Amino acid sequence: MNPRHFISLLDLSSDELRHLIRRAITLKSHRDPDYQPLKGQVLAMIFEKSSTRTRISFEAGMSHFGGSALFLSPRDTQLGRGEPLRDSAKVISSMVDGIMLRTDRHDTVTTFAEHSSVPVINGLTDEQHPCQLLADMQTYFELRGDIQGKIVTWIGDGNNMCHSYIHAAMRLGFILHIACPQGYHPDASIVAEAGACVKFFDTPLAAAQQADLIVTDVWASMGQEDEQNLRATAFKSYQVDQAVMDNARPDALFMHCLPAHRGEEVSAEVIDGPQSVVFSEAENRLHAQKALLEFLMCNPLS
Ligand code: CP
Ligand code: NVA
Repeated sequence: MNPRHFISLLDLSSDELRHLIRRAITLKSHRDPDYQPLKGQVLAMIFEKSSTRTRISFEAGMSHFGGSALFLSPRDTQLGRGEPLRDSAKVISSMVDGIMLRTDRHDTVTTFAEHSSVPVINGLTDEQHPCQLLADMQTYFELRGDIQGKIVTWIGDGNNMCHSYIHAAMRLGFILHIACPQGYHPDASIVAEAGACVKFFDTPLAAAQQADLIVTDVWASMGQEDEQNLRATAFKSYQVDQAVMDNARPDALFMHCLPAHRGEEVSAEVIDGPQSVVFSEAENRLHAQKALLEFLMCNPLS
């Protein structure tokens, strides 16, 4: 039997996703140091790109559960010298109980999963960032209840986070309003799969109307640093500022996966203001991923 992997939010059913969110909220409310369901287990973490939140939350989560995590960089392993992914996946999975990867190409993670005998978790690829969505959805449920039927507005780049928001809309039944500059729209095949869950708008102000949650992300993602100036011009009128927040519902929340650039994709007034929940989102990476690790690694072949 193959292990369950978490490469995309679509790898979970709607019920499983709601279960994970509720479990994350429970784990956050009470930390029992004697509860060590992953005692002796090891998570290998392969990072092709930088990270603060993802690395620390997985490492701390494994430690809370009685296990441990190994940080592996392609620079220091044979992965960086061209050892085939399938060979690496077979070898690494023969020695550990779970593997988390943060990679440039999405197909690096899917290839790894094909050849791994243990669960593989996507810790961000150029295409998707599903772990962040677990934390964002936990944050919304904690503060406002179930997100079904709500309106969420994505403003900015149609990037990995935007794709995972589209998947969250499909699984949790909310409507995603999207406002992106020309040429920076999300992948057409991901949008097509989502059908009526996704609606496009020409301006951030129009997209924000009636929104319960406004979300944005950096204009240039990791690996796009050379495009920073070009993108700063293209995204100039896509900043989430107070005028955008004021067009949403009065109790709307603001989210950003971090790291953020104040004065670019979001004004300091908004990210440091009363509607912003960015630091709860960041903390919830720990709780949501503990729920995920428990789900995938306690019964890996179920
Ligand atoms: N949001 C997020 O994934 O942060 P890191 O890049 O710090 O892991
Ligand atoms: N879209 C951003 C998310 C960082 C957590 C990036 O890929 O760099």
